[in-house]
Amino acid sequence: MNSEHNKHFSELLNRERKKIDKILFDSFDNRNPDTLYLPAAYILKSGGKRLRPLLVIFSARAVNNQFKKGYYAAAAVELLHNFTLVHDDIMDNAEKRRGLLTLHKKYDINTAILVGDSLLAVAYETLLMDCSGDSKKIVSSFTKSLVEVCEGQSLDKEFEMRDNVSVDEYLMMIRKKTSALFEMCCKLGAILGGGNANQVKALSTFGRNLGMAFQIQDDLLDILGPEEEFGKISGGDLIEGKKTFLFLSALSLAKGEDEQALLYVIKHKGIRKNQVYKYRNLYARLGIFDLAAVETQGYFTKAQHSLRRLPDERNKFVLEWIAHSLIKRKK
Ligand code: IPE
Ligand code: IPE
Ligand code: MG
Ligand code: MG
Ligand code: MG
Repeated sequence: MNSEHNKHFSELLNRERKKIDKILFDSFDNRNPDTLYLPAAYILKSGGKRLRPLLVIFSARAVNNQFKKGYYAAAAVELLHNFTLVHDDIMDNAEKRRGLLTLHKKYDINTAILVGDSLLAVAYETLLMDCSGDSKKIVSSFTKSLVEVCEGQSLDKEFEMRDNVSVDEYLMMIRKKTSALFEMCCKLGAILGGGNANQVKALSTFGRNLGMAFQIQDDLLDILGPEEEFGKISGGDLIEGKKTFLFLSALSLAKGEDEQALLYVIKHKGIRKNQVYKYRNLYARLGIFDLAAVETQGYFTKAQHSLRRLPDERNKFVLEWIAHSLIKRKK
């Protein structure tokens, strides 16, 4: 892929982002009270890659290049995503998101709970704008993914307290907390674009595998990503005692002092921020970052394969390009 290509695709995606943002920002305009909607605007205007809505748009076009709608459904998945982030940051005691104070730190926890609730409600309101005729499939797929995110988030919290979590359990947890939403975005796009059963299935598989790769990459960036660029506190997962892919893989390989250091995290349910660098070195020494890269690449390859049988080459290429840019991302 040359730099001409890159420029072309980034410009294309930026144009789509603008259309999505217009709906997002308008959806919270002219509403009262400000105590609810100013903080809601704070999270929606804080940046974000807008990855999930782009998956909706380009999945629809991958099955039907003529399809130029779907922007409300796209905005709806972004609203849903932002709702999960606001509540996730409360649960994870996170101080920063997208380089800014998290909503509950900037305002307070009650405000963050309510903003989350209203984002979810407006997400459904916005989704319905793209529903006509038999929209049961759309609403039920949207709802199913949300149920799974809640189950995944619950497991994520449960695992903080458990000392015997396996890598397989971790994979099942991220399948729900992250990959379910990615899968739904691609499936929704495919349904909206009028894809046949095989195409809907192919795009669902693409989203599912991309979501798995995305979360493992997120775990990696949590400790390797430069704080200013990634926009979250570096080492936040270790500080909170999360059972990430990195942590569990390290635990299965470590011996002696390294093993003791990892068991310390489990026993104390986390570490202090000034200890993070020690664990970064430990992970590097055990080759954990390479292991995570291999795992990510595996899911990415599966995702790519599932695109093979889609009809529209051009839009399929956009999806591939999005997937590529995720693997190389720093934020
Ligand atoms: C963060 O998602 C939550 C995860 C599933 C890891 P993103 O990294 O897509 O967040 P934004 O919207 O771009 O900030
Ligand atoms: C994201 O997991 C899962 C969600 C459903 C939001 P994380 O807790 O790792 O997400 P970040 O790193 O805070 O964005
Ligand atoms: Mg979390
Ligand atoms: Mg979090
Ligand atoms: Mg994370």
